[in-house]
Amino acid sequence: MDFKDQVVLITGVSSGIGQRLAIDLAGRGATVVGCGRSQERLQETLSELRRTSPSSAVHVCDVSNHGQVKGMVQKVLSQFGKIDILINNAGFGLYQSFVNSPLDTIEGMVRTNFLGAVYCIKEVLPSMVEKQSGHILNISSVAGKIGTPNMASYCATKFALIGLSESLYHELRPMGIHVSVICPGPVRTKFRLLFDDLAPAAPGFLILKAEEVSHAVIRAIERKKFEVVIPLWLALACFFKGLMPNLFRLVSYQALRSRLVSRRSP
Ligand SMILES: NC(=O)c1ccc[n+]([C@@H]2O[C@H](COP(=O)([O-])OP(=O)(O)OC[C@H]3O[C@@H](n4cnc5c(N)ncnc54)[C@H](OP(=O)(O)O)[C@@H]3O)[C@@H](O)[C@H]2O)c1
Repeated sequence: MDFKDQVVLITGVSSGIGQRLAIDLAGRGATVVGCGRSQERLQETLSELRRTSPSSAVHVCDVSNHGQVKGMVQKVLSQFGKIDILINNAGFGLYQSFVNSPLDTIEGMVRTNFLGAVYCIKEVLPSMVEKQSGHILNISSVAGKIGTPNMASYCATKFALIGLSESLYHELRPMGIHVSVICPGPVRTKFRLLFDDLAPAAPGFLILKAEEVSHAVIRAIERKKFEVVIPLWLALACFFKGLMPNLFRLVSYQALRSRLVSRRSP
């Protein structure tokens, strides 16, 4: 697919998956507008983007703040006149037992991971509806398909993103707007450093590189796929959960319990 003349808004481009995706889409000719909270790291991303896409831009914006999202989207629309593709990627996770999770931590995660996407969609959507075209892509997780211990709040936000995406898929399709959701398993980024020492290590063959997720996102846009789960082994696990949810829960309980047994819940 030719991304020339396409304006792509990506949240969370100052590191990890969002940064890789921004660089890859800019390399394919898109005008990429990215956001994040860290001005310094955004500038590093921008220098990379401008090597291949001189019109690309970045904005400091905290997606958990509706006013900031509204201001950013207005600036992008007045500068470029349209947003063809919106990628809701900004998010964070914590490895913490639910009983020990303070309410403000849970609320903060909901505001960034779920409401952040809602705010962006609400602000971008009217311009997509007006031109009867567009693509909205949400980065969920395998944790949005399979509940895992000590990640209840994170899983809840990622399950919510899948529900939002599926409803919007049906609602927006008649208006020429496509919706996708990508569910990666563990990815080697800064995100995981927050709980690498606490959570049981994922087997090496399940761990993805940001490049692989970026590749899957671009393919989902090109092929207008609704849902992509990667890597294949975790896609198969999700498939079996769909077929036999009770058996899946029983087996995963035994497997997770034996891996958690040597670690105390944080
Ligand atoms: N890594 C994994 O194992 C994994 C697996 C499945 C899904 N995911 C999902 O993939 C997405 C990207 O994660 P990653 O692995 O690339 O992590 P990362 O390297 O920590 O990147 C997260 C990005 O989100 C931005 N961000 C966080 N809070 C924000 C806020 N309130 N407003 C604006 N930007 C914000 C960060 O920028 P600033 O700090 O500058 O704000 C950063 O650019 C997340 O939604 C995550 O849930 C990750």
